[in-house]
Amino acid sequence: MELEKKAYPKLLVRPVVVITTISERGIANAAPFSFNSPISSEPPLYGFSCNPAHDTWKNIQKNGEFVVNVVGKDFGELMQVLETDYPYEDSELKHAGLTEEKAKAVKPPRIKEAIAWIECKLEKHVELGDHIWITGSVLAVAVKDELGKEAGLMDLDKARPLCHIGGEFFAVDMKEAKYKRAKS
Ligand SMILES: Cc1cc2nc3c(=O)[nH]c(=O)nc-3n(C[C@H](O)[C@H](O)[C@H](O)COP(=O)(O)O)c2cc1C
Repeated sequence: MELEKKAYPKLLVRPVVVITTISERGIANAAPFSFNSPISSEPPLYGFSCNPAHDTWKNIQKNGEFVVNVVGKDFGELMQVLETDYPYEDSELKHAGLTEEKAKAVKPPRIKEAIAWIECKLEKHVELGDHIWITGSVLAVAVKDELGKEAGLMDLDKARPLCHIGGEFFAVDMKEAKYKRAKS
């Protein structure tokens, strides 16, 4: 089946993250993102694509820090409230009933209810199409104690990461599979 060119993201099911940032006055902002990816292992770099009008970008421009909160299926019902465009400094976390927790290496908070956390400092940004690609240098990484497995793996059956297809469509409950590689 041939598709419209702009339908391509729906063919790339992506993890949903909720990115937390803070204003100059230290008030937290949270927003879901799915145009996101690891970029480099050494040094560890993470990137996501942000509409330039978003408060997330406004805050990152001010203080250069953000937390990538990896979220599970239980956040599915919260997407609507988290993506609502509340006035600046009216925290989505409060509206969603989520809990701020102190991050290890940056000022923006972690979301306690998330399944894993990637704390980043702005490395560089570039305008690409109608978004800004924001690259962060990874300063600290953690997974919820009860979800962590050996070698940094996550217990998928328990974590049930939330993935985005497009619009209101999400994917959950993927299974772990192991295949031999030439190099591991
Ligand atoms: C599942 C999901 C994925 C999203 N992915 C992106 C994204 O990758 N880039 C983006 O700019 N906006 C994305 N959005 C929209 C923003 O989350 C939304 O516009 C939000 O209000 C921006 O908040 P902010 O102004 O507080 O930063 C997504 C929304 C949802 C629900």
